[in-house]
Amino acid sequence: MRERGYYGDFGGSFIPEILVATFDELVQAFSEARADPAFWAEFEALMSSYSCRPTPLTYAGNLTEHFGGARIYIKREDLNHTGAHKANNVMGQGLLVKRMGKRRVIAETGAGQHGVATATMAAKFGFDCTIYMGEIDVQRQRPNVFWMEQLGAEVVPVTEGTRILKDAINEAFRDWVTNMDDTHYALGTACGPHPFPEMVTWFQSIIGTEARRQVLEITDRLPTRVYACVGGGSNAMGIFSGFLDDDVELVGVEAGGHGLETGEHASRLASNDATVGVAQGYKTFFLQDDDGQMKETHSVAAGLDYVGVSPILSHLKANGRVRFAAATDKEVVDALSLTVRKEGLIPALESTHAFVQAFKEAPGLTRDDVIVINQSGRGDKDIFTVADAFGDPKWKQFIRDKAEEYGA
Ligand SMILES: Cc1ncc(COP(=O)(O)O)c(C=O)c1O
Repeated sequence: MRERGYYGDFGGSFIPEILVATFDELVQAFSEARADPAFWAEFEALMSSYSCRPTPLTYAGNLTEHFGGARIYIKREDLNHTGAHKANNVMGQGLLVKRMGKRRVIAETGAGQHGVATATMAAKFGFDCTIYMGEIDVQRQRPNVFWMEQLGAEVVPVTEGTRILKDAINEAFRDWVTNMDDTHYALGTACGPHPFPEMVTWFQSIIGTEARRQVLEITDRLPTRVYACVGGGSNAMGIFSGFLDDDVELVGVEAGGHGLETGEHASRLASNDATVGVAQGYKTFFLQDDDGQMKETHSVAAGLDYVGVSPILSHLKANGRVRFAAATDKEVVDALSLTVRKEGLIPALESTHAFVQAFKEAPGLTRDDVIVINQSGRGDKDIFTVADAFGDPKWKQFIRDKAEEYGA
């Protein structure tokens, strides 16, 4: 089952004939790297000297007191270089690119986090780099575009389709078809054709391996539940990997947007709105209409706003191993505010979805219970969205003054 990249009914590799040799080469390189203990040792050494690994597991004592139930621990992926778990995947793929002898990397990005991480990896390894980004996202995420360009990447605004993440993925595949000899496509999440879901999960499993060891060291027990937000599924698969074989409940939290009942959300596994289909090279649950056209999605967190989801998570839903929930934009903004005030932590809006569900459930557990929340990234990048949501008048004045300074 695994060799062909199927997880139950989901996954596979639906790719054009022209890419078959490139995918075969990638599958081969990945299999060899995985079988070589020196490769993982090199990966761990790189992540500890360059990206702050192992990231800590922080006890959230004030939130624990506030909710009065389970002890709350937070896995701090926000402390990675570039501010999110995305670094684990791109640095791992960077090492693989070096092994394959290629010299150029391309990537898609939505919110820009994966784009910045990939451009950083390219700068560090000396690769040429092109990032595809929907035109709308380019407009929404100027600070990340600025950094990608400073890091030496070419950022290509995608004007096809709805001009967001899924269109950027299509464009990146088009580039790969023409440049496969010297180019690697560093896909940013646990989606896409085989071997990407499995390969990205493998690199991200460093989160779960560390978290399991740390929670045992600190609390002398395994957690009752582990919570992670779910966009494409990479940070969730990363932390869940450490606990899949344990008696630990795993909870994935998707973007509930304006509420599941409004249809304006990006919830594939917690809502009944998604159906199984094949798109972008793999089979999973997609938010699509009866003709297979992808629907528009909505979330306050750009990184969760995707129509598909990891085929591995679809399988883990089908077999009941992972439970899925959704958090609305409003719940997320409230949970963010509480976390900032109580713990001095600023989780990314994406990560805060996991906090919402943990906060709902913590009071129903006892002080003997331990729960772990994956803080997949830091929230500094969300300053425009969060300041808007909080309606901060001083921030608005700052923007007006800046606009005046630029003669707008
Ligand atoms: C901080 C953060 N968390 C989570 C995600 C969602 O991605 P995934 O589900 O692959 O972890 C993103 C995507 O951009 C992100 O930036």
